[in-house]
Amino acid sequence: MELTKEMTRAREMVEARLREFFPGDGLQEAMRYSLLAGGKRIRPILTMKFCEAAGGTMEEALDFGCAVEMLHTYSLIHDDLPCMDNDDLRRGKPTNHKVFGECVATLAGDALQAAAFQTALFAKGPWRGEGKYAPALAAGFLAAAAGEGGMCGGQYDDTLGDGQPHTLEELSAINDRKTGALLRAACMMGVMASSGHRAVDDTCMDAAKAYATYLGQAFQIRDDILDVIGDQAEFGKPIGSDAQQGKTTYVTLLGTEECENRVLALTEQAKAALDQGAWRGDTEFLRELADSLAHRTW
Ligand code: IPE
Ligand code: IPE
Ligand code: MG
Ligand code: MG
Ligand code: MG
Repeated sequence: MELTKEMTRAREMVEARLREFFPGDGLQEAMRYSLLAGGKRIRPILTMKFCEAAGGTMEEALDFGCAVEMLHTYSLIHDDLPCMDNDDLRRGKPTNHKVFGECVATLAGDALQAAAFQTALFAKGPWRGEGKYAPALAAGFLAAAAGEGGMCGGQYDDTLGDGQPHTLEELSAINDRKTGALLRAACMMGVMASSGHRAVDDTCMDAAKAYATYLGQAFQIRDDILDVIGDQAEFGKPIGSDAQQGKTTYVTLLGTEECENRVLALTEQAKAALDQGAWRGDTEFLRELADSLAHRTW
């Protein structure tokens, strides 16, 4: 399998579905601006590929994936606001509040969050038997990942820490909530989406959770590395934003070289975690994706 080709195919499926959601003007224009600005779409791709690995199809997990991407996009719009990271560039374009103002950007984020739950709960899928609970359970995973115990709680600790040092343990706990939680939901919602066919296999659910936990740590450390050594045009975000906010990151504590080693080690752990699942489909894509994210420059 060729990773790049398969990534493109999956990303095109996501983009096509996302384009259907907010065609209007007013607030919808602001929601669409950030949602269709061209992110990597890692989360929905994970959702679809975990569904496939667990014995379902990518199509069946598409709406769950779009729900995660809406929630993620909301978190980025708010993360960029002056009261948080105060950034001007996102996905290679001016940030939402730079174009629409802070009030509209706040509301666009709020509305994307609501739309995420609506999309998960009304997801198209082959929900039969036990599988009829899949949308509700998936929305439950998403809520847990988004809230105080997940992304919002992590963002709270991350933002309050501006200018104050964190220990490695504190940073890893913050990263697990602000970034790991939503990646975990993305992967687990993918396994859940396969339940239109058969009962969810617990070994697959546990493996998805563990994979995402390691991947989440690796992903945020790589993000922090790129905040220092990245190329703005390729990364699509300002370089040096963390330093400007006085943030402690893995890079400030360990330096880029040691961080790169940690990203590689965490990536190996993520791939190894997949071995514990009784998969019906292939997990090769998920392994190759983890490897490629460890070296990403975008
Ligand atoms: C950015 O996420 C926020 C982090 C958790 C580091 P991504 O790197 O997935 O951003 P997009 O979706 O590709 O823009
Ligand atoms: C934020 O981490 C993760 C979110 C929950 C949005 P960062 O603040 O490092 O994300 P970027 O670098 O702005 O994408
Ligand atoms: Mg931030
Ligand atoms: Mg930020
Ligand atoms: Mg960052």
